[in-house]
Amino acid sequence: MDTSVAIIGSGPSGLMLGQLLHRAGIDAVVIDNKSPEHIMSRIRAGVLETVTVELLDEAGVGDRLHAKGLVHEGINLAFGGKLHRIDFEGLTGRHVVVYGQTEVTRDLMDARTASGGASVYEAEDVRIEGFDADRPTVRYRKDGTEHRLRCDFIAGCDGFHGVCRQSLPVQAYQTVERVYPFGWIGLLSDTPPVADELIYVNHERGFALCSMRSNTRSRYYLQCTLAERVEEWTDERFWTELKLRLDPQIAQRLVTGSSIEKSIAPLRSFVVEPMRFGRLFLAGDAAHIVPPTGAKGLNLAASDIRYLSRALIRFYRTGDSDGLGGYSERCLRRVWLAERFSWWMTSILHRFPDAGEFGARIQRAELEYLVRSRAAATALAESYVGLPIED
Ligand code: FAD
Ligand code: DHB
Repeated sequence: MDTSVAIIGSGPSGLMLGQLLHRAGIDAVVIDNKSPEHIMSRIRAGVLETVTVELLDEAGVGDRLHAKGLVHEGINLAFGGKLHRIDFEGLTGRHVVVYGQTEVTRDLMDARTASGGASVYEAEDVRIEGFDADRPTVRYRKDGTEHRLRCDFIAGCDGFHGVCRQSLPVQAYQTVERVYPFGWIGLLSDTPPVADELIYVNHERGFALCSMRSNTRSRYYLQCTLAERVEEWTDERFWTELKLRLDPQIAQRLVTGSSIEKSIAPLRSFVVEPMRFGRLFLAGDAAHIVPPTGAKGLNLAASDIRYLSRALIRFYRTGDSDGLGGYSERCLRRVWLAERFSWWMTSILHRFPDAGEFGARIQRAELEYLVRSRAAATALAESYVGLPIED
C-alpha cells in the first residue's frame, strides 16, 4: 500500500489533517495503535477558539458544532470570596465555543468514514523510517500481519507518548520542558453546570475549574498532588472538596451526581524544536504540551494543522515547498505565545508548594490587577479567545 501522506495518530490533529487533505484531493492513510472506541472514550479539552471552529468548518464538519456548541462571551475568575467576570466580547469583540474534544473527534471520524478515507486502527508496533531521505516508510503489524506503507510525507500526530518524536536521532532536536508539582483530577457528570460560564477558582485549598460540555453535562477539575490516585477520589470526596473551594453561594447551587468519568492528568509545559525533520512533520501534542489552564492544547493542535494542511496542499498543487520549509518556524511562534499564556494562567491560579508568602501576595496582586485594569483584562481575553493566526 502506498499513499501521499501517512498520518500517525487519529486524535484531533491527525483526523483534522486527514479531512483537510481529503477535501483537497490528496490521498492519506491514518494509522492509530488504539481502537476508535478507546479514542472516543478519552475525555479531554472543551473550549474551542475561532481559529479551531473555522478549521473544522473548512474540514466540512462544523454542522453539529454550530448546532450544539455553546458560545461563551466571557469567563469568571473567583478569588478573595468574589466572582469577577472577564468580558471577552466587550474587550475583544470575540468569543469561544464550548464543545468537547470527544464530539470534535466523533464528527471527524464520522466524516472520514463517510468519505471513504483509509484508516488503520489497533495497529501494533508502528515504526517510521527513511523520513530523512526521499521515500519515508511506515511499518506496523495488524492482526498478526506485517504491513509496509510508503509515502511522500509522514505527519506525526501521535500525541506526547507517540512514536514519531521518539524516532528522531537525539542530536536532531531539543526539548524545553517544565513539569509542575501538581496535577488535575477531572470529573464528568450528567448534571447541569453550576453557572452559565466557566469559573476559574484561586483558593487556598488549591485551584478549581467549573466547566461544562452542554446545559446538562458538567466538567469539573481540582488541583491535586502528583501522589494521588484516581481510586482514592470517590465522587463524594470530589464534590465535598469542590464545594470547599467554591464561594458559599455558588457551592449552594452546585448539583452533584454520579461521575461518568474521572481521571488525573499531570501538568506540563513542553516544546520540541524544530517541528520538522526532512519529510516528517510533528503536529499537536507530539510537538508540544501546555498545562490545561488556558484551554490551549487542542487549539494549538488545530493551528499546527492549519499550517501543515495549507503547506501540503500548496506543495501538491504547485510544487512549491516554501510552506513546508517555513512550517516549524511559523508554528513555534504561535506555540510559544500559547506556552507563555498557559504557564501564566497556571501560575496565577494554582497553589505552588514552595511559593511562600511572597508568592501568594504576588499572585493576589496579579488577580487584583486583572480585574481593575482594562488593559490587563484585555491581555488575558485576547490570548484566551486565541491570538490572530499569520497567513
Ligand atoms: P492526541 O489527542 O493525544 O492524539 C494522538 C493519537 O495518536 C491518539 O489517538 C493515540 O492513540 C495515537 N498514538 C499514540 N501513540 C501512537 C503510536 N505509537 N502509533 C500510532 N498511534 C499512536 N487540553 C485542553 O485544552 N483542555 C483540557 O482539559 C485538556 N485535558 C487533557 C487531559 C489529558 C489526559 C491529556 C493527555 C490532554 C489534555 N488536553 C487538554 C490537551 C488536548 O486534549 C490535546 O492537546 C489534544 O488531544 C491534542 O491532540 P493530538 O491529536 O495532537 O494528540
Ligand atoms: C476545560 C478544560 C480546560 O483546561 C480549560 O481551561 C477549560 C475547560 C474543559 O475540559 O472543559
